[in-house]
Amino acid sequence: MQYTLDLPARSVIGAEARKAAGEEARRLNWSRVLLVSDPYMEQEGRVEEIRQLLQKADLAVSVYAGVTAEPDTEMVKEALDQYHKDKCDGVVALGGGSPMDTAKTIAVMATNEGPVQKFMALNAVEKPGVGVIAIPTTAGTGSETTVAVVIADKRSKVKMSGRDRSFVPAAALVDYKLTMTMPPALTAAVGVDALTHAIEAYVSRLAHESTDPYALSAIKLIWNSIRAACRDGSNEEARKNMMVGSFQAGIAFSNASVALVHGMSEPLGACFHVPHGLSNAMLLPAVTKFSITAAPARYAHIARVMGLSEPGQTDDQCCRMLVEQLFQLNRDLKLQTPAQFGIDKKEYDSMIEKMAADTLASGCTAHNPIVPTLEQTMQIYQEIYE
Ligand SMILES: NC(=O)c1ccc[n+]([C@@H]2O[C@H](COP(=O)([O-])OP(=O)(O)OC[C@H]3O[C@@H](n4cnc5c(N)ncnc54)[C@H](O)[C@@H]3O)[C@@H](O)[C@H]2O)c1
Ligand SMILES: [Fe+2]
Repeated sequence: MQYTLDLPARSVIGAEARKAAGEEARRLNWSRVLLVSDPYMEQEGRVEEIRQLLQKADLAVSVYAGVTAEPDTEMVKEALDQYHKDKCDGVVALGGGSPMDTAKTIAVMATNEGPVQKFMALNAVEKPGVGVIAIPTTAGTGSETTVAVVIADKRSKVKMSGRDRSFVPAAALVDYKLTMTMPPALTAAVGVDALTHAIEAYVSRLAHESTDPYALSAIKLIWNSIRAACRDGSNEEARKNMMVGSFQAGIAFSNASVALVHGMSEPLGACFHVPHGLSNAMLLPAVTKFSITAAPARYAHIARVMGLSEPGQTDDQCCRMLVEQLFQLNRDLKLQTPAQFGIDKKEYDSMIEKMAADTLASGCTAHNPIVPTLEQTMQIYQEIYE
């Protein structure tokens, strides 16, 4: 078997890692950067802090802080226009998956002709992009290290996904201090996104010997810290573990792929505006229950790594415990079901067939331990409503 491993050329990890922004930009030989972020980071003064770090390293900085959650084609276009107008030669992203995915898309479109849609596919980028320095502020998507971007089509509302080595950032500055301001509900949702990346990367049919260690380490770090990080946002140890876990989960799924939870999560998010982390949380326990019989040894190992089993317990017992504990996690972290999120039952039911068809059309499903039928996918959507 042969496989590839795509990673940022350099990752700086730990408290205050963001302060390497100027040095990294200089090493990349940039002179004018577009700093891509969101209104919250601007209001908190974080955009200004990074702008000053870059300026001190003799770089001119143009700021685009207009990315809102779940970015769309219009935002990408607006930011790309600014990139060209201000004659930039590099991109810095500060924020969660939304600003990072926007920045990664711009960096590729700066050197490749065509509409956004052209790049939202597998290996659809011809030339390398200009490069991105990614500074994550949520411990969730792992976008600072992944081959993936997710951009919504402004008109059709469909969430499109691109996967290409050219989307991997040139550098990742993984600084857990930036996550300390996340409220509990956000910490929980993005944390379960990261946990899902790690679990799906481990059970994926494309998992291999160089992604397994990252996936298992991420599962352990996240499982042991997610409740503490939600309970007390100022717990530095828990915040650090969540950030490192999310980064490692990003490495794992970027090189091994995600699976059915993500396949079903995108249509749910697109149809009912559920944030990505929350829609994963709605699905993770039920999809695990569905998939577990096809890879019992792998799922049992996950339960053991999480510390859920007693010595001597069978794979079967470990698998049951894993499913139970994933349901329990959602209750403990008050992660909402579609009903609790306020989605109307009739409207939900009327969309189930379309969501299931969109799931099967996505690339993720083929890598799940069991590839579901349309009926099985519809059944899972039905089960998770309440
Ligand atoms: N590229 C990938 O590999 C990948 C993987 C998973 C998900 N995604 C995509 O990423 C997007 C979601 O990203 P996300 O979950 O990181 O959230 P986000 O970037 O959409 O941010 C969500 C909200 O949290 C706020 N926020 C961010 N950091 C904060 C902080 N430190 N303190 C307080 N508030 C903060 C933001 O202002 C925003 O309002 C989705 O579009 C999803 O599809 C991408
Ligand atoms: Fe995700």
